[in-house]
Amino acid sequence: MDALVLVGGLGTRLRPLTLTRPKQMLPVVDRPMIEHVVGRLGAHGVTRAVLSLGYRPDVFESAYPDGRCAGVELFYAVEPEPLDTAGAIAFAARSAGVADTFIAMNGDVFSDFPLLDLIHAHNASGAAATIALTPVADPSRYGVVVCDPDGRVRAFVEKPPAEQAPSRWINAGMYVVDPSVIDLIPRDRPVSMERETFPTLVEQGRLHAMAHDGFWIDAGTPAAYLEVQMAVADGTHIHPTAKIAPGARIANSVIMDHAEVAAGARVEDAVLLPHSSVEANADVKRAIISPDHHIAV
Ligand code: GDD
Ligand code: MG
Repeated sequence: MDALVLVGGLGTRLRPLTLTRPKQMLPVVDRPMIEHVVGRLGAHGVTRAVLSLGYRPDVFESAYPDGRCAGVELFYAVEPEPLDTAGAIAFAARSAGVADTFIAMNGDVFSDFPLLDLIHAHNASGAAATIALTPVADPSRYGVVVCDPDGRVRAFVEKPPAEQAPSRWINAGMYVVDPSVIDLIPRDRPVSMERETFPTLVEQGRLHAMAHDGFWIDAGTPAAYLEVQMAVADGTHIHPTAKIAPGARIANSVIMDHAEVAAGARVEDAVLLPHSSVEANADVKRAIISPDHHIAV
């Protein structure tokens, strides 16, 4: 099966980290975000990942020059201009010649969602598309979904004000899609999956969903980017090239390559990106330190 992975956004909420590279090329513990995402797809039987690229495609192309990532074949679909989520999926599917049922997903999602069950649910219902749902406390920054007990989606509302959210089940950013959906998406203009294509499928009664309450993080904000590192590392992770002075105290943190922590410094619930440093006696807590940056007392 092919998977289309959306990685073309500007990553504005993660600026300045995303000024030089797309968010999916930011490191999460020991490798770029995209390798975690594509690796999980590969573990579920995906044989080709079609990367839907827009912003800084060169960073992906130079990181994976042989066209393979985490053991999965890549296809690069570079948009001439940002086409928004549905436009990007349609452009990528047409460019890569995707003709069978495929997976589409946002490139910033980490989860243990049972993808094979999602595919089975999709095949069993005959829906045009089946979306994964996860519960969250504050649905207002997500696509909020209401569905029938049989899984048919009744409403899809993208980013409603908190008090108007019709449920706390949200679009987890992973879909199984029938190729006929591509024909619904107009060419050559931006089209939003969440604001246009899904609501159209809801009206036609052809959008289904499957809910699962498990591990799920959209790593697209600073707080979530920090949280996902803590979850993946599950304790402290120190890269072999990092330099930790005797007497430095590190707790529940990720220290990346060539980062340095001087004597007497304390680093807690934090991420030191490559080549960053923390000076003697400085205190760093719940923070992400940018590459090459230096924290003084
Ligand atoms: N190729 C391409 N072109 N990719 C894009 C574009 C575009 O114009 N715009 C955004 N993307 C990519 C981003 O890089 C990201 O991987 C994905 O599409 C989703 O964009 P985000 O900016 O991360 O969206 P969001 O987090 O606000 O909301 C989306 O994800 C939520 C769950 O994580 C929506 O799908 C919500 O409905 C959903 O709940
Ligand atoms: Mg996101």
